[in-house]
Amino acid sequence: MGIKVSAVGHALGERVLTNHELAQHIDTSHEWILERTGITQRYISDHKNTSDLGTQALKNACERYNLDPQSIDAIIVATMTPDHFTPSTASLIQAKMGLNPLKIMAFDVNVACSGFVVGLDLASALLESKRFKRIAIIGAEVFSKILDWNDRTTCILFGDGAGAMIIDYDESAPPCVCVNHSEGDLDGTLRACGVPLLQEDARPLILSMQGKDVYRFAVDVIPSVMQECAQKAKLTLESLDHVILHQANQRIMDYAMKRLNLDLSKSISNIAKVGNTSAASIPLAISMALLDGSLHHGESVMVVGFGGGLSYGAASFTL
Ligand code: UT7
Repeated sequence: MGIKVSAVGHALGERVLTNHELAQHIDTSHEWILERTGITQRYISDHKNTSDLGTQALKNACERYNLDPQSIDAIIVATMTPDHFTPSTASLIQAKMGLNPLKIMAFDVNVACSGFVVGLDLASALLESKRFKRIAIIGAEVFSKILDWNDRTTCILFGDGAGAMIIDYDESAPPCVCVNHSEGDLDGTLRACGVPLLQEDARPLILSMQGKDVYRFAVDVIPSVMQECAQKAKLTLESLDHVILHQANQRIMDYAMKRLNLDLSKSISNIAKVGNTSAASIPLAISMALLDGSLHHGESVMVVGFGGGLSYGAASFTL
């Protein structure tokens, strides 16, 4: 059984924040950020929350491909910066799109930067069950609302955005082969605090991250999970047209491609323009690359997520 990608779209925060602007407020420089991460700017959402960007991305996908939103059976939103604990961001997007409540199932997944790959895994399984025909997977984040803008080790990395991909069950299409793993982390390697049991343990909802540890984790697991996914899909990594890695750091992406002896030009990257948008980064990169012509429908791709959890996963499919 296979999946067909029917539409892709995206949305970005409305304000561009450059490295130079950041360097006016914290002890950093454009050169340091560019050299260590590949980022030159990111988009910040001042007025739109996660469900607004997710709705905008889904509308963009429907409009670009002339697809009727009412034909969507399920919405899965990958996010770690939801508007609320409840209702889910997916339910809010359903309401904002005015989608048929009798037909649609909507829920969020929180697997940090691996969320889109997990959402794709779930969506493929739901389509395979034949209970659903068309599913929208949306990665949406407004990370700026959980950043400590005085912490130069985190605030320079992230940006706000959303990407949406609509997939259909299609008997004749190639399969979507997914693998996902979780290495539970109790040490707070990447954490945004939630609601504690006791009020005295309450801490502000701010992201904290041991960047070096996440870096080491990422360069370790990316090559192995890509090889595992390729093996499961019965293909070679060299045969892929493109690889879309979670856009966390250009150095991580380049290292992984070199370690696997893969052509660097096959790696899709938009991190310079948008920074790390967590669960949104993969569909956002796909959507922007389809628009600028560096990706095309019909090409074979592998997407790779990694990050908080600690979690990691990969999926191979035809765009
Ligand atoms: O989305 C998934 C989760 N996130 C990631 O995957 C992030 C993974 N980690 C990384 O991308 C990198 O570890 C960072 C970009 C976060 C940091 O880069 P690094 O090359 O690992 O730098 P570092 O932490 O080793 O810091 C090197 C130096 C330190 O100074 P000293 O101790 O050598 O004097 C830092 O204090 O750079 C300093 N530094 C900065 N300097 C200027 C740290 N942040 C900054 C900054 N500007 N923004």
